[in-house]
Amino acid sequence: MTIVARKQMLSFPNLALAITQDKPVLEIPGPIGEMLRDVQKLGDLSGKEGEVTVLYPHGPKVQRLMVVGLGKKRELDMAKVRKAVGRVMKRAVRLKWKAIVFDVESFAHNHLKALDICQAISLVGSIAQYQYKEFKLHQTPDEKPVVVDVALAVEKTNACIQHAREGRVIGEAVNFARTLANQPANKLFPLSLAEQARKMARKYAAMRVKILRLPEMRRMGMGALLAVGAGSQRPPVLIDLFYKGGKTSERPVVFIGKGITFDSGGISLKPSNKMDEMRFDMSGAATVLGTIKAAAQLKLPVNIAGIIPAAENMPSGSASRPGDIVRSMSGQTIEILNTDAEGRLVLADGITYAKKYNPQCIIDFATLTGAVVVALGNVASGLISNDYQLAEEIKKAADVSGEKVWQLPLWNEYRDLIKSDVADMANIGSKSGAGTIVGAAFVEKFIGKIPWIHLDIAGTAYGDAGSIYSKGATGVGICLALEWLKQRIKRK
Ligand code: BES
Ligand code: MN
Ligand code: ZN
Repeated sequence: MTIVARKQMLSFPNLALAITQDKPVLEIPGPIGEMLRDVQKLGDLSGKEGEVTVLYPHGPKVQRLMVVGLGKKRELDMAKVRKAVGRVMKRAVRLKWKAIVFDVESFAHNHLKALDICQAISLVGSIAQYQYKEFKLHQTPDEKPVVVDVALAVEKTNACIQHAREGRVIGEAVNFARTLANQPANKLFPLSLAEQARKMARKYAAMRVKILRLPEMRRMGMGALLAVGAGSQRPPVLIDLFYKGGKTSERPVVFIGKGITFDSGGISLKPSNKMDEMRFDMSGAATVLGTIKAAAQLKLPVNIAGIIPAAENMPSGSASRPGDIVRSMSGQTIEILNTDAEGRLVLADGITYAKKYNPQCIIDFATLTGAVVVALGNVASGLISNDYQLAEEIKKAADVSGEKVWQLPLWNEYRDLIKSDVADMANIGSKSGAGTIVGAAFVEKFIGKIPWIHLDIAGTAYGDAGSIYSKGATGVGICLALEWLKQRIKRK
């Protein structure tokens, strides 16, 4: 990562600038500025959100100029900045540029701080270049991507270095999580996921990992997690990761990730259309691993536990049936009315297990419901919480990280929907509607009074290619979790 003084940016061959719709005239000096103002007079630089223009100035230094529109200045937020940077990066990759220098200041408007922009550019600089090609053995030379080196031009170079580095570390953690989630279910299954966690933990002195296998899970009474794994030839595991960045006496923050390596639905079998996408059903687990990896690399002064209940949800003669009643590790019994509502079952035992850490708070990431895709599409993750203050913290962090969340209510009327006549609760609602909230209401039964955030990432964990991501997994939640940790550390 190269960082240069803004004065010098006009001496680099490839330059990226942002303009807004309100003030498209740039206060860039010299012939480059003149050219830009001329093009603007022609009406070709509107500053509209998403507009990318490549210009080739005549001059000795800057050979190529990319101008990206940010839209209306007062509507600018970090999510838009990230998209604009992503668009620039994707174009630069397509044009096979070897390097690009971003004029950071031109992106920093309203409340957005130049330092946060530095982090966002270096972060998006790496995630926008990611493609999952592990099994693509034959690529034409044209398909092979070039690596575009990202540099930042800023007013104050020193302050920027740390933020740019953080951005790169987080970007790499996001890409790591994406590769885990993108891997097909014949390569990534509960035990191989555990192996990945082990491999990661080995690299950091402050990290340790424990893998719970069947006998231990039985001994602990994890009937809910075992029920989900019962139909598969690939046994379930529970991954218990710990990163010790804080004092021994300090209670940890706990992240829990849904680790369903493939969700066929089980006996309540899903339709075959798009069933392949259920390889992404361990995206929550990937987010937890990526978050802890970045936290360790950045040496954050906090204690973090990462709990991943992992299983493959399959139909077979040994699978759980609709109507089965199981006893969770918490002691509460569950009537499994639909074997496809399996995420909440594995979270249940993951949460109960996590209580051994006496957590400050619990944040779970789970591709839990199709209903959240209906409600929020691929745009925002659903947020449900039992704690006003913690929810506000997460929303504030989301504003800075640019990963959108939207809170849904958790009222008693919804809690009533999971009542069962024969067990302590049912795993689906007694009537249709509010599927995302009902899923959260179930999860809450195992949380109790611990401050808790549930993030339903079914709509945001993977998708088609967009302005930042390529097709497939996104690693959603990692930037948000790290920004929240950072803000929390500052407040301490
Ligand atoms: N993994 C799915 C949720 C999902 C759906 C993720 C679409 C990504 C895209 C989850 O296990 C599931 O099957 N949920 C059911 C719950 C229902 C049976 C109450 C659903 O949403 O249909
Ligand atoms: Mn399911
Ligand atoms: Zn699932």
